[in-house]
Amino acid sequence: MITAIASRVEVMKWMEDFVQEKMTEFLKSVEDSWQPADLLPDARMENFFEEIKNLQERARDLSYDLLAVLVGDTITEEALPTYESWLMSIKDVPSNEDSPWMKWNRAWTAEENRHGDLLNKYLYLTGRINMREMEASTQYLIADGFDLQTDNDPYRAFVYTSFQETATNLSHRRVAQIAKKQGDGMLAKLCGYVASDEARHAKAYKAFVGKIFEADPNEMMLAFEDMMRKKIVMPAHYMRELGVDMGKTFGHFTDAAQRINVYTALDYTDILKDLVKEWKLETVTGLNDAGERARDYVIALPDRLRRVAERMRSPQLEYKFRWID
Ligand SMILES: [Fe+2]
Ligand SMILES: [Fe+2]
Repeated sequence: MITAIASRVEVMKWMEDFVQEKMTEFLKSVEDSWQPADLLPDARMENFFEEIKNLQERARDLSYDLLAVLVGDTITEEALPTYESWLMSIKDVPSNEDSPWMKWNRAWTAEENRHGDLLNKYLYLTGRINMREMEASTQYLIADGFDLQTDNDPYRAFVYTSFQETATNLSHRRVAQIAKKQGDGMLAKLCGYVASDEARHAKAYKAFVGKIFEADPNEMMLAFEDMMRKKIVMPAHYMRELGVDMGKTFGHFTDAAQRINVYTALDYTDILKDLVKEWKLETVTGLNDAGERARDYVIALPDRLRRVAERMRSPQLEYKFRWID
């Protein structure tokens, strides 16, 4: 361990071997990875059109809300250029090409790139989506970027990614469960594959933060508190449709996700609770007064949020997205 007053630059440098280790543990090699083509009909095959017909038949009964959530999830995944450039802009991280941090960023992006690719192709093949409208939303989202309020700070950024990868694992898993119930086993399988990638990514980012807690507990605690006070926003919070004011589309997307129980305010609370446990907040030592107060705040937060969440009603407002005909 290094001294408790180490700077962020020193901590990030000190973590390089750890990141390398976690990369081997939690990312897969290209050789060991699934590819979208493994999971979708192969256009070279004679039975291709028959498979498409079957795919479309299965997708016919997917509910409107599920389809809308899936489109929103796909747009979110396809805005990957935003997330990669954001990762590269984090301060105090060694930026040489060979640094495990930079290798991590590239390999993580390479894995994530399959998600949007897979979901986009699937949605196109269902014949239920207005692809032009969906593509325009993706272009908007990448151009609009996002504001996660992490201030390019590695400590805040890895709280964010720990939270967000856990949330995406959960939501893709839920979409898989609902798809299965609605009779689309193929979609269930696709989302299951994506969810399992997200689970590995979540584990890695949680491990990064756990390691920072060892080296710089007070600053890490303050960063965690700061992110929780600001609230974790979804990466697609600027999502919009052609001809629709910014903010509206995203609101309707999250409403649909709440309605079908893919991602709710209670999930937000549960994820926070999980992080408090994961990082053993109760037993962290080396805190000053501000650090102690930050810990108290974060530990008490899940119960407070739960009470608010339990009072919230699931939004009933129907909305016609331009993405779905
Ligand atoms: Fe993803
Ligand atoms: Fe992810």
